Amino acid sequence: MPPASPPAGSASALFCGCGAPAAGGTIRRTVASIQTKKVKPVILACTMPKSLKKLRSNRAWIERHINDPFVKRSRAEGYRARSAYKLIELDEREHLFSPGMTVVDLGSAPGSWTQVVRERLSDSGGGLRGRIIAMDILPMEPVEGAIFLQGDFREQEVADRLSEILEGGRVDVVISDMAPNLSGVAMVDAGASLLLNELALEFALEHLKPEGVFVTKAFQGSGYSQFIEACKRSFRSVAQRKPEASRGSSAEMYVVARGLKAARQPA
Ligand SMILES: C[S@@+](CC[C@H](N)C(=O)[O-])C[C@H]1O[C@@H](n2cnc3c(N)ncnc32)[C@H](O)[C@@H]1O
Repeated sequence: MPPASPPAGSASALFCGCGAPAAGGTIRRTVASIQTKKVKPVILACTMPKSLKKLRSNRAWIERHINDPFVKRSRAEGYRARSAYKLIELDEREHLFSPGMTVVDLGSAPGSWTQVVRERLSDSGGGLRGRIIAMDILPMEPVEGAIFLQGDFREQEVADRLSEILEGGRVDVVISDMAPNLSGVAMVDAGASLLLNELALEFALEHLKPEGVFVTKAFQGSGYSQFIEACKRSFRSVAQRKPEASRGSSAEMYVVARGLKAARQPA
């Protein structure tokens, strides 16, 4: 199963796993024309050409997206993506955040998780108490008070900028909702997603405080159980969660790992 919501073989670079169109233009125009019912129905033949199948599958995805209650709610409540509700539910259950914490958000764009963390780290007057460092390859609109580093979290330059910000300090929570650019080939995409998770785990082990928490999206399938085992080797407790906002048809799970078994010394 491909590791994100859009149908395999779709113009997946335009979609983000969070359900937000990543690059705007084409998809937004398509959504708008479906909403105003300007799109003509596709006539299906028994031997439907591949391009028609793709078109139909893209349309089905967009229609599902438009009617999705979490998409409607995110628009009404000002979140940038429906993924916000996954983190809200995880936090309600796991009590991940509190004011004063330092939180790193890997793969943060378009920013709905950063928005949720910003709310959770607010003092009674709404000011930010704590630090939020969000990172993404893609640009991201600012979230008040959060520091955004644009770049690949694996790059040395990004790592150096993070070290400057942390000044040798450690992080309370690392959250990762990263999704690779989809190729549409399920095995390739699953492998790329697994690699991102392994690197995110490595990042968390390097930066977390001994009692720190690592939250990451992972896809059930090849390599998933090995990844859970790797988390269990490094953390005292590991839970696997499927928030309500995570589509039932998606193999995605959220892993919540707490408490390092052996704290690493700063490099
Ligand atoms: C599903 S979206 C994140 C949605 C976000 N949590 C939100 O709620 O708005 C996945 C993001 O991971 C980012 N990403 C993928 N690989 C990355 C990497 N190596 N370094 C930084 N960001 C990465 C993508 O650019 C994409 O924006």
